[in-house]
Amino acid sequence: MVDPPSPAARLAAVLDPVIPRIGELMRLRPEALSLAQGMVGWEPPPAVHRALREALHQPGFALHRYGSTWGEPALLELVERKLASGNGLDLDDATLLVTTGSNMAFAALMQVICDPGSEVILPGPTYFNHVMAVQLAGGLPVGVAAGPQLDPQRLAAAITPRTRAIVTISPGNPSGVVVEPAALAAINRLCAQHGLLHISDEAYADFIHGPVPHHSPASAPGSAGHTITLQSLSKRFGMAGWRLGWAVVPQALLQPLAKVQDTVLICPPRLLQRAAVAALAAGEAWTAPRIRALGIRRRQLLDLLASADPAEELRLWAEPDGAFYALLEAPSPCAGERLVQRLVLEHGVATLPGESFGLTSAPGRALLRLSYGMLEASELADAIGRLRRGLVALGA
Ligand SMILES: Cc1ncc(COP(=O)(O)O)c(C=O)c1O
Repeated sequence: MVDPPSPAARLAAVLDPVIPRIGELMRLRPEALSLAQGMVGWEPPPAVHRALREALHQPGFALHRYGSTWGEPALLELVERKLASGNGLDLDDATLLVTTGSNMAFAALMQVICDPGSEVILPGPTYFNHVMAVQLAGGLPVGVAAGPQLDPQRLAAAITPRTRAIVTISPGNPSGVVVEPAALAAINRLCAQHGLLHISDEAYADFIHGPVPHHSPASAPGSAGHTITLQSLSKRFGMAGWRLGWAVVPQALLQPLAKVQDTVLICPPRLLQRAAVAALAAGEAWTAPRIRALGIRRRQLLDLLASADPAEELRLWAEPDGAFYALLEAPSPCAGERLVQRLVLEHGVATLPGESFGLTSAPGRALLRLSYGMLEASELADAIGRLRRGLVALGA
């Protein structure tokens, strides 16, 4: 007997995805409350469903044919207008392509920019799918502890002749931090000086709850040649499972990206692009009140944590002014997935371990990502109660 085919050795270097393991755990305790899921609780506007029905019955909308590699013209035009008015992006020297979500855009970009051993700087805490995409492409993810506000000097110190890009995520996952525009602008200039790409993941661009505004680094004059902007419908429109987003990329990367896009997708799903046009047309009228309601949930979370007994020693890693996450540090005899497992199975509350984001808990302490995106007020209060009681019981 010969051995069955095995995966390429390269795959051994790629992180194992944490989300399916947490999903398995949740299936063992279906009544557990989830502070783990990185999604919002709302659905897309009704216009999206109408647009799909109309498209299916529209004579001449030939779904049996492939569409444009870059995306349907109607969607590209609408996104371009929104990028100009909402984010200050000028697409004269850059170009736009539709992808199946920003993860796919990021993975495609890594295929384009990584040679074996190429380095991509990922300020910590890192988003695990970014790490995996770099590894899948044969590159080396370089996690850098640059602080919540991304100190450009600490990032500069990590640049080597093999560095190809610096990635920023603002608002951040898992921290919820909104990075100051000045810091993002400085990182963008640093990239220009060193001939690097600045990849700005803006999946949570609309989720701003504090005084610091969202900033797209690609809005700086002269940045188009080295800046990439990734955006998505997943979070804003409650369309995580629909898989649609886009990337704004320097003109010079378009042809190399076409090789990946054509190989992987041929074209972005045409019907979904109709849905995207309808969602964007519904726009802020749909998203703004829902995001405001999340801001109230955030306040509730912060109040619940602040009202804990000081002996519980709960601390936030940073001020979570954006997205729908907060990174909590607490005393605990165990950390990582072991702790998450015990919290689910013994206390009925799910979180994600800081270790999944490249963080290391200090001895006797643990870091947990809390997501308040899916929970109503009473569920959130219940979930935080379970978490606090769980942490106290485990530490006793
Ligand atoms: C920072 C960040 N980027 C990208 C994504 C994935 O976005 P999409 O659904 O558009 O692929 C996520 C999802 O959690 C995320 O947290």
